[in-house]
Amino acid sequence: MARFQTLDDIDVRGRRVLLRADLNVPVKDGIITDATRIERLAPTIETLIEKGARVIVMSHFGRPDGRPDPAFSLRPLVAPLSKAIGGQEVAFAADCIGEEAKRVVAALRPAQVALLENLRFHKGEEQNSPDFARALAKLGDVYVDDAFSAAHRAHASIAALAQLLPAAAGKLMEAELVALNGALENPARPVMALVGGAKVSTKLDLLRFVMGKVDLLAIGGAMANTLLFAEGKEVGRSLTERDMADNARRLLALARERNCRVILPEDAVVAAELAPGTPTRNVASDAVAGDMMILDIGPKTVARIAAELDRARTLVWNGPLGAFETPPFDQGTAAVARKVVELTQAGKLLSVAGGGDTVAALSAAGLTGRLSYVSTAGGAFLEWLEGRELPGVAALTAAADATPRGDAA
Ligand code: 3PG
Ligand code: MG
Repeated sequence: MARFQTLDDIDVRGRRVLLRADLNVPVKDGIITDATRIERLAPTIETLIEKGARVIVMSHFGRPDGRPDPAFSLRPLVAPLSKAIGGQEVAFAADCIGEEAKRVVAALRPAQVALLENLRFHKGEEQNSPDFARALAKLGDVYVDDAFSAAHRAHASIAALAQLLPAAAGKLMEAELVALNGALENPARPVMALVGGAKVSTKLDLLRFVMGKVDLLAIGGAMANTLLFAEGKEVGRSLTERDMADNARRLLALARERNCRVILPEDAVVAAELAPGTPTRNVASDAVAGDMMILDIGPKTVARIAAELDRARTLVWNGPLGAFETPPFDQGTAAVARKVVELTQAGKLLSVAGGGDTVAALSAAGLTGRLSYVSTAGGAFLEWLEGRELPGVAALTAAADATPRGDAA
């Protein structure tokens, strides 16, 4: 696994710690709809407080495109962040660099916390600008990256800044990397992957990489329709990428070459329309009527996946298995999730899941906390599952490599 320093390796007492967080939380009508990322960040801040650091939290929020935009201010995050760390006060700087940021940081005493305004209010952030990174570096003595979910972005606060200050992973970053590596680097076998979601086209790299790593790949969601179609099955009016049929056949051939068994749905829940509570039927995958849509995996497929899970020791899961936002088409995903939880809780399965929709489906089923690990990452989790080097992780490794061995973990 990549070598990187952790909070145990760096001295932070009395020092100014620039903490890269991902406070890019979902917000609807001014209300935070999921505070997971704030809650999972809290232990890092609390640890830094205990060690007597001056903690300066920085993050992006939304995509304001390099200029200040009140709609993307981080100011509304001050109160939720304070709440997450037990009510401790959080100061706010209305700019993340320059005089305003310097003033707020200078006023911090050890064990106090400040939050800087949205990094993406400056073009230099997304450009990975050395000048912008230097302006940030002026505010701190040490850099801690706890933003695994933004690690796929080569942005200044993630990449360039890590080379300017002593750098370490925060506790959440560390937990993400340990869990993800445990699932694919030296996993207990058999390893099973469960991949769903709408499209094959957006997950080609992911499927290719995963096939080289796992013993068994079960595919659900609308992407399975494309694979069924490629095998010559009638998919009716189902969401299907017909132009991806050749790619789909090549994928299935690649899986055979790599000795990765692939399970496609053997039955489906079909309906004439995607609407809540619409009448449904369970049919075999080769008996889908031309005027019907496949909207979920059927009970036989759930049972087949459950039987395979019984034999598996490790599971990596990305993507819902049906149109989970519209009940009852959340049932297949929920049933499989319950099986995963049962085996995980019994100590028989190491289960790791990630990706925006996957996490939404698991939390809708009330099961998020009951897998071995659920990543806070969306895009970064997908890029990790494609086998790509994440700039945020690479930056921490480079920083550790620049540190004499013995000083680093
Ligand atoms: C995310 O929410 O996936 C991360 O915060 C990255 O956000 P971005 O896709 O706007 O770079
Ligand atoms: Mg995103």
